[in-house]
Amino acid sequence: MKNKISVIGAGMTGSTTAHWLAERELADIVLIDILEGMPQGKALDLSQALPVIGKDSKVTGTNSYDATSGSDIIIITAGVPRKPGMSRDDLLTINADIVRKATEATMHSSPNAIYIILTNPLDTMAYLAMKVANLPRERIVGQAGILDSARMSAFIHMETGVSVENINCYVLGGHGDEMVPLTRHSNIAGIPLREYLPADKLEAIVNRTRKGGGEIVALLKTGSAYYAPAVACAQMAEAILKDKKLIVPASAYMQGEYGLKDMFFGVPVVLGAHGVERIVEYSLDESEKAALQKSAEAVKATTDAMLNLVKF
Ligand code: APR
Repeated sequence: MKNKISVIGAGMTGSTTAHWLAERELADIVLIDILEGMPQGKALDLSQALPVIGKDSKVTGTNSYDATSGSDIIIITAGVPRKPGMSRDDLLTINADIVRKATEATMHSSPNAIYIILTNPLDTMAYLAMKVANLPRERIVGQAGILDSARMSAFIHMETGVSVENINCYVLGGHGDEMVPLTRHSNIAGIPLREYLPADKLEAIVNRTRKGGGEIVALLKTGSAYYAPAVACAQMAEAILKDKKLIVPASAYMQGEYGLKDMFFGVPVVLGAHGVERIVEYSLDESEKAALQKSAEAVKATTDAMLNLVKF
């Protein structure tokens, strides 16, 4: 039997996630949105692309949650971007409502699904979905670390010209300006980045990585990044469906790891058939610990704000 992945929100990230999933022939895909006709049109278009590349994933576009039943994975991308005049709290309230509805609409008919959350602020949205569905922590994970690490790798590649296949970057922490690019653990073909690049160049790359999302928003003007966030979701889905035990940075529910509790936070996780099977703890020096703590405080503040705004 084929696997089923439902993607909630068929906008830029949702439809691009469906594209990467179909290209890998990972599962049948259900694309859902509130806009009438849009998911149907995108699904049809994607279905018509697949004969060209010889892939047999079935892609269904719909406005009804019926088609999601029995999903192995549910990827939530539905949300609204921040608009002029909208406060962060306004955005938080609106996206929390959307993520809550998407979770409630899927949790009973897909009782074994693993949830991947992309809607921002994703650490907080993952927390919300876990509470709404009362999921064990294995079954819910937020996407951010693969994206942030890939951004850093791309900038290192631009600076050095070395193949991206040789570049290994690790970015932990919340998905925000306080994220923590671990330059001590990152390397090029085993050579520590700190030896490969002068300190000023490395610092510039770290700063650009932290602001990577904003740089793209400023260029696009009408939206935010979608290719890289979407392919990161597809990689996570693949690791789960193929039980790869892949270690990637992702947002997971903390139960004391890295000294953190009762919050989602970007840490290295082992992704396999059961979802988040384990959290890997790196040995960190004092400055790395302090940077993670600062990032954790920022995430905690957003999650607390959500808990004040949303009634369970
Ligand atoms: N149910 C289903 N879909 C919804 C709902 C809902 N309740 N509310 C909004 N949507 C849909 C919108 O109709 C839109 O098509 O979510 C889609 C969001 O798509 P885009 O506006 O293109 O936004 P996108 O770039 O995909 O980003 C979505 O992911 O990366 C994050 O920060 C980003 O939080 C944002 C989310």
